[in-house]
Amino acid sequence: MFVTHLECAACGSRHEARRLQNLCERCAKPLLVRYDLERAGRTLTKESLAGRPTSLWRYREVLPVGQEENIVSFGEGWTPLLRAARLGERLGMSDLFIKDEGQNPTQSFKARGMTAAVSMAKELGARKLAVPSAGNAAGALAAYAARAGLEAHIFMPKDTPRANVVECEQTGAHVTLMDGLITDCGAEVARRKEAEGWFDVSTLKEPYRVEGKKTMGYELAEQFDWALPDVIIYPTGGGTGLIGMWKAFDEMERMGWIGRKRPRMVTVQAAGCAPIVRAYERGERTAPEFPDAHTTASGLRVPRAIGDFLILDALRESQGTAVAVTDEELLAAASEIGAAEGLFVAPEGAACLPALRKLLDTGQVRRDERVVLFNTGAGVKYLESYS
Ligand SMILES: Cc1ncc(COP(=O)(O)O)c(C=O)c1O
Ligand SMILES: [Zn+2]
Repeated sequence: MFVTHLECAACGSRHEARRLQNLCERCAKPLLVRYDLERAGRTLTKESLAGRPTSLWRYREVLPVGQEENIVSFGEGWTPLLRAARLGERLGMSDLFIKDEGQNPTQSFKARGMTAAVSMAKELGARKLAVPSAGNAAGALAAYAARAGLEAHIFMPKDTPRANVVECEQTGAHVTLMDGLITDCGAEVARRKEAEGWFDVSTLKEPYRVEGKKTMGYELAEQFDWALPDVIIYPTGGGTGLIGMWKAFDEMERMGWIGRKRPRMVTVQAAGCAPIVRAYERGERTAPEFPDAHTTASGLRVPRAIGDFLILDALRESQGTAVAVTDEELLAAASEIGAAEGLFVAPEGAACLPALRKLLDTGQVRRDERVVLFNTGAGVKYLESYS
């Protein structure tokens, strides 16, 4: 166990790691887990990885769980990093990859966050977990909570894809569908959690989902033999995956695994809900609520993100950017990726392709650069979007 403490991402204040925590007690911003990386790096070496499990738990020393028996797992992570040769050829690119997160348990990268969050909730004594979700986080929480023997209380907008609702019901969760957006669902959890005795596992409102998701950064480095790509294109809602990868790169540098070079981090959002893109373009450090949020890419229907400043900082520090694409563009991209690469991708993942095209057109990405698109989920969960 190499966790030293939790640290507020905004004001830096220190919090105790061995009890259930939500936001910073001083400023109500997200808490991040800090490790003794020097000690962790004595056993977690590049060489040691060879014989380890093919799941994200291969990076055990930089994950927060104390007791092995508290790990709640379906074998998530260590997803394929696929060379997209045919799609690359269409774009005139020679070094294009897709990280296929649709192959995770519960068919999305949300499994990464929930394996860490549910394991820690179990370890620290929570019994009832509650979450607002755009859909995939709900399915993941329901599954991991059931496996841990914990209650899951899930709040989703009523226009969430049907597959997400059914999977939650089939895995024993208590499901409430609400009029409104994920932010309204979050407010409902906040309003009721104390009386109900729920632990709120909203993304970045507890410290551990981001720890699970950061493993995407470790995996990219390992799968590319410790040379990070030039550009990462990532469909951003709450931004937890992007924030997590950025944190992972920092940790790896501190352990001496990589140098200072970072990929340019690119946020993709849907034109109908693009708070981060708007704030990025305006040069702002926070992103006010985006009005009338709408897009068929339900995971991107996040009008306000508590980690906005962390996303925007990472985009700027990496000299990346933020791009909006229309629903028409992302739906067309899904079938283009499908036909070229045989992957039935989530609309959120599909959004990476029109974003890449725009960046190629403006010269912000060169055709010979190594680019990774994140397909964050499986298309099979979005039949309404595709029919
Ligand atoms: C398939 C998919 N992609 C992307 C996102 C956005 O993820 P993040 O909150 O890490 O930005 C979601 C969130 O619901 C999602 O379900
Ligand atoms: Zn703080």
